[in-house]
Amino acid sequence: MPTPTMEDYIEQIYSLISTKGYARVTDLAEALLVHPSTVTKMIQKLDKENFVHYEKYRGFILTDKGKKVGKRLVDRHDLLEEFLEIIGVDEELIYDDVEGIEHHLSWNAIDRITDLVEYFKEDEQRILDLKKIQARNESANKDETK
Ligand code: CO
Repeated sequence: MPTPTMEDYIEQIYSLISTKGYARVTDLAEALLVHPSTVTKMIQKLDKENFVHYEKYRGFILTDKGKKVGKRLVDRHDLLEEFLEIIGVDEELIYDDVEGIEHHLSWNAIDRITDLVEYFKEDEQRILDLKKIQARNESANKDETK
């Protein structure tokens, strides 16, 4: 498996290609807030490990291996966003929270979170029950800070 940093790149490349049709060094530098030369170095590394195919003047594409890993990473990202949304995390926090945790969870934890998301989606009442607990805790928190 790729390292967490490599995962960030593969994930971004995969989502850039699926939304824009291509991924350029400048797009990646912008998305990951790094210098273009850093991107180029990582692309060469990803090329060596056969995740992308890099052609010096023509840019790069994902190999079959890269596509497979990329899809898995993007699906994981989407699952975690859905999970945080279901448990009621503020919407504006969700993306950064997912970026922060996604590379650090085991695939076992991801599978179990998948079960939990399914559990809540199967029955609306379960989400409403959770919201009741949230409302109770939120008002208790407010009382404490009074
Ligand atoms: Co992500």
